[in-house]
Amino acid sequence: MNDVLSVDTDRLWSRLMAMAEVAATPAGGSNRQALSDDDAAGRELFVGWARRAGCSIETDAVGNLFARRPGLDPDAPPVVLGSHLDTQPTGGRFDGVYGVLGGLEVLETLNDRALRTVAPLEVAVWTNEEGSRFPVSMMGSAVWAGALGLGEARCLRDRSGVTVGEELDRLGWAGSSESGRQLGAYLELHIEQGPVLEESGSRIGVVTGVQGFRWYTVTLSGLPAHAGTTPMDRRRDPARALAAALEGLYESILAGGPAARVTPAQFRSQPVSPNTVPAEVTFSLDLRHPDAAVLDQIEDLARRIIGDSAARHGCEHRVHLDNDSPPVTFDERCVAAVAAAAETCGYRHERIVSGAGHDACHVALKAPAAMIFVPCRDGLSHNEAESIEPTAAGEGATVLLHAALELAGTPDPY
Ligand code: HGY
Ligand code: MN
Ligand code: MN
Repeated sequence: MNDVLSVDTDRLWSRLMAMAEVAATPAGGSNRQALSDDDAAGRELFVGWARRAGCSIETDAVGNLFARRPGLDPDAPPVVLGSHLDTQPTGGRFDGVYGVLGGLEVLETLNDRALRTVAPLEVAVWTNEEGSRFPVSMMGSAVWAGALGLGEARCLRDRSGVTVGEELDRLGWAGSSESGRQLGAYLELHIEQGPVLEESGSRIGVVTGVQGFRWYTVTLSGLPAHAGTTPMDRRRDPARALAAALEGLYESILAGGPAARVTPAQFRSQPVSPNTVPAEVTFSLDLRHPDAAVLDQIEDLARRIIGDSAARHGCEHRVHLDNDSPPVTFDERCVAAVAAAAETCGYRHERIVSGAGHDACHVALKAPAAMIFVPCRDGLSHNEAESIEPTAAGEGATVLLHAALELAGTPDPY
């Protein structure tokens, strides 16, 4: 390893492991769902570290949190490093957390070396990035960027009927930091969550953009009937419509080429009874593609497949678009800063488009933004076995450090 300025990997790794203890699952993952007491406990751990590092803490109306390290020019737009601390219900220990604690490690390293920056630095913790409890992904950053109304976000309900607004008020997270304020730049460090870097042997992903994705709620409605007395040819069974729709979705949408992604999930049927033909079956549908025009075609095809499958089994159908995140291309100056940082550090790197959505998608609507990826084992994420190597954790945070110094400016040699 050449003698470039680098972060303290041991400190970063010990904090990642300490955060992983907050709402750890028996299988070794994390379950800190958005705006839960567990999410709050994770935030409190982070805030304690950030305050001890000399940061001031602010939150905005939807609970996005900003830990600020002063710069020489207090009026300069800050360079923000961030990600999220909320996790999937059976999430991994690194998705989101790595970007927040990697950002804090950058501040700690600057403190250790008494390095000043011209622009202030901030570490952002965005509220409800995952969208698994409250069904809009990257919600906090969407409100910050003006892509989602605060009122609309506060009304989002989880499956037990609790709203975002009730949880924000219960936790006391809502603050007065200005949404959409001017930023000098935004950098998000994240695990790749896919197999590309591990398979190519690259240590760093220089993320140039994010593919588009859309979320839907699909409802298939039929005729509830007795499971024993109703002949098979006399049923209007939404479960059969579901089976036909799934077959069609997997078969024909993959015709969208290897980049197309289709993920039906969250299957539910009503009434909850083993001996009644369901009245209604609902499921979530996640469609993704890097090209918006192809995503339109995939959506049209999906709607047609679902409609045909429902009609073939005498059922009604409804497809509701819940979330539309268009493809994003990151700011070339920020991307170049990441590439130059990887070069300076001597890490093998490649340009990559993110398959997963990130808060950077929304921040990029208001500020120059880019992302840094590190490889994760078997490309696995949204899985309790999600794993990265400690050295990879240190390498990604060191690239973040150098890119942040480039974008924030410093008068001090390093
Ligand atoms: O859905 C996503 O891609 C992200 O994990 N929210
Ligand atoms: Mn994430
Ligand atoms: Mn995630």
